[in-house]
Amino acid sequence: MTQQSTTRQEAPASIGIALLGAGVVGGGVAHSIGAHAAEYERRIGRRLELRQILVRNPEKVRGTSVDPGIVTTDFDQILSDPKIQIVVEVMGGEEPAYRYLCQTLESRRYAVTANKEVMAKHGPELLSLARRNGVDILFEASVGGGIPLIAPLKRDLIANEITSLRAIVNGTTNYILTRMSSEGIDFADALEQAQALGYAEADPTNDVEGIDAAYKLCILASLAFRTAVFPADVYHEGITRLRANDFRYARELGYAIKLLAIGRRLAGGSVEVRVHPVLLREDEPLSKVDGVFNAVELEGDLTGLVLFQGQGAGSFPTSSAVLADVIDIAREIGLGQSGRAMEPYSASQQIRPFEELESRHYLRLRVPDRAGVLSKICGVLGDQYGISISDIIQKETSQEDQSTEIVIMTHAAREASMRAALMELEQLPVVNEIGNFIRVETPR
Ligand code: NAP
Ligand code: HSE
Repeated sequence: MTQQSTTRQEAPASIGIALLGAGVVGGGVAHSIGAHAAEYERRIGRRLELRQILVRNPEKVRGTSVDPGIVTTDFDQILSDPKIQIVVEVMGGEEPAYRYLCQTLESRRYAVTANKEVMAKHGPELLSLARRNGVDILFEASVGGGIPLIAPLKRDLIANEITSLRAIVNGTTNYILTRMSSEGIDFADALEQAQALGYAEADPTNDVEGIDAAYKLCILASLAFRTAVFPADVYHEGITRLRANDFRYARELGYAIKLLAIGRRLAGGSVEVRVHPVLLREDEPLSKVDGVFNAVELEGDLTGLVLFQGQGAGSFPTSSAVLADVIDIAREIGLGQSGRAMEPYSASQQIRPFEELESRHYLRLRVPDRAGVLSKICGVLGDQYGISISDIIQKETSQEDQSTEIVIMTHAAREASMRAALMELEQLPVVNEIGNFIRVETPR
């Protein structure tokens, strides 16, 4: 009895946290630690104490959640605080974030990161470092913002052989594609809208070129296929070549256009990993994921298809994922357990070269509106490269130069053949312009 009342009266020990970054995500994390302090303390059994916040510019005006008294620009100050047990990296970029994460783990502190670039490029090294030092690094927020993805892949789906993963993991591009489709506008106008609304950054290269999605695919595919996948393994292509007409023609043919991150386990033990725009049948669930939303569709041999969907970015959704990791670690610390970082995967499975992909294609060409043109184009595709055509549709004719736009849908053809055929078509006098070519995504 006496023992019990003594325990109750003692202030619970706190767990010291350092935040690297106080921007969109860091601001949300700081806010939630303050706003939900009592509730988190009940769940963990200890108080989360935000002790230091690292920023670049200490003069910047920040929200009330960021206490200026704990702001620093010196990472060594964080390392020299023995009360800090968890370092939360929400700065972004490869360096100095990667170096700080290494130093965190080497100092036997736990790390939480939202940084897809660092995890895609250095995930296996960081996990090994965490294991060697008896701590852990968690990265739920690195893919899909507030959508639980990493934990389900590590735990709930562990009994499955994941055969395929198809994902919309970039909110900026999904927003742009949604606007292009619904408003009939071109890429440049949709990008401008996305920037005005704060969805796209001033330099949108990583998003619109598919680089951000490729980083996220590395993380998801490594977990799903239990093999290390690095950015250099992933073929990536962005959305900048898409035009309003592509969306119109695709819709007439029963398709939406989406930027998909695709991973598949192939017969023979290799895997394919690629990011590019696709024509996706309108009745597929991923076709209906619009705006800044993200979705990941996984196929397990036991579960069948599983779809995760939600807000893939934003201050609060992303801080939900960051704080889930923090609370998970804080509970382990509270239980006196040492870190159990997952075993990093080695690059055990071969990545199939992209040129070996077999896919149907949508091809938009501008050609002179006269007899004999189609037979020359069909000659290159069919006779020279063995690419079989399923449909040819003649679209708009321009009175100005007597040219017309045609759309060709092919049967499945090898990527290498398609590329060679496109180079040949480009040289044909009867082809004014190759407007676009887009792969057609068919579920397997
Ligand atoms: P952000 O708004 O640009 O904030 C970055 C923060 O990090 C700023 O406070 C900045 O300091 C600080 N910082 C950057 N470089 C620094 C350096 N060298 N030294 C010290 N501080 C530095 O970025 P964010 O949108 O919050 O994104 C953070 C991370 O979360 C990124 O890895 C991102 O990919 C990931 N993520 C973001 C979202 C999202 O919705 N935004 C979603 C999922 C994942 P100053 O304020 O002084 O400039
Ligand atoms: N730039 C990313 C996106 C932020 O648009 O999805 C979330 O990682």
